[in-house]
Amino acid sequence: MAELALFGGKREFEYEWPTWPYSSGEELNALDRVLKSRRWFSGFLGGDSEGEVGKLEREFQDYNATPHAIAVANGEAAIVIALRAAGIGAGDEVILPAWTFMATASAIMHLGAIPVFADISPDNLCLDPEDVSRRITGKTRAIITVHYGGRLGNIEELLDLAERKNLVLIEDAAHAHGSDFKSKKAGNFGLIGCFSFQESKTMTSGEGGMITTADEEIAVLARSYRSNGRSIGSPGYLHYRLGWNYRMTEFQAAILRVQLGRLDEQVKLRTRNAHMLSAEIDSIPGFMSFKDPEEMSQNSYYLYPFRLDLDYFGIDREKAINYARSKGIDRDPSLIPASMIVEDAIRAEGLSCHTVYIPLYRSPLFESSTWEDCGMQLFSRFLGRGIDLSPLKNCDRSFDDVLDISQYVLLSEEEGMSKAAEILKKISDNADEIRNTLRL
Ligand SMILES: Cc1ncc(COP(=O)(O)O)c(C=O)c1O
Repeated sequence: MAELALFGGKREFEYEWPTWPYSSGEELNALDRVLKSRRWFSGFLGGDSEGEVGKLEREFQDYNATPHAIAVANGEAAIVIALRAAGIGAGDEVILPAWTFMATASAIMHLGAIPVFADISPDNLCLDPEDVSRRITGKTRAIITVHYGGRLGNIEELLDLAERKNLVLIEDAAHAHGSDFKSKKAGNFGLIGCFSFQESKTMTSGEGGMITTADEEIAVLARSYRSNGRSIGSPGYLHYRLGWNYRMTEFQAAILRVQLGRLDEQVKLRTRNAHMLSAEIDSIPGFMSFKDPEEMSQNSYYLYPFRLDLDYFGIDREKAINYARSKGIDRDPSLIPASMIVEDAIRAEGLSCHTVYIPLYRSPLFESSTWEDCGMQLFSRFLGRGIDLSPLKNCDRSFDDVLDISQYVLLSEEEGMSKAAEILKKISDNADEIRNTLRL
């Protein structure tokens, strides 16, 4: 008789995890306020001071202790504008982790610049400064670091490297609202910080983004680029730069002002719960937690990553491919993580977890040679050189053995954390069922 729910055993617990996105009557009131105001647009420059967007920007500045906050339509727009305002353009090389969402790379490519993939550190899943330094060439202009899951990994080393090599450091802080390092909030380390408010993020209006910077000139440029190249104090139909309409609506901002009001309390709760879960996980054979750097008193925990001991579960890539086939999954084998069966087993017990990223160098985009896909092979023909798509050791390893629990699970009561740990313990105790299935 199977114990694990994946193989027909009884699901151990029925537990109601919190759901996401979260809203209350406050969001409804905020939307109603904007509807009735008949002011749905944030102004020609995208942040009129008396509007919701303008207010959100000031509140975000205060919360984040950031001199300038510029609201935009989404997180990708934030990165495009950040790069453009920092002077990055055609043919420049920008180093980024291959362990991130495509928008970090596509923002670079939209400006005609070249993404250069670097590896991550195995202990925090953030950009590895040593690998970055190996990839710096005469064409390198910027580094984008991604605070994966909310963790500010290697931030001091990356800052130091950028300073020494005279490179711009941009923080992709799409995961890191409220995370801090030595009491300084994410988005205040590099020249520019970029946040996302897409639905899964820890504060959301469905879509949305924010740029943070201490640099007055960058702030002026960013406001102009987000609003079709307009300029403060100039008529609305005079355009000074090639910009975009990347403005946020008043509806988005009104919702985000409410969500910002809850952010700190939720970050604190997730940080506490994550630490509780980590203490449990480290005593369960087959699973390992990631530690926060001591300098971080808050981690947004947009994701709670944990590592599997593949040997313990008797898993490898080949077995995962066979398992996937047995389930009728017909996918390119290089896109199947070794962890798949354990992920399925955990989910079958009722705990939501998933493999988040496929290393970007495996994206079909880069193999395409058509205009329609704007594949990199074609793109690079014009730039005279291609993108290095060689596999990176720690990105590949993490694709196989890291699973993530989503942030809203960490908004549960303490009981929720004990349930999550009990589910992982049940999987660990019954690892034989997984090993035996994979042997078939
Ligand atoms: C690391 C990272 N960067 C950038 C983005 C892009 O944000 P958006 O979806 O708001 O454009 C995301 C969104 O998921 C992300 O996770």
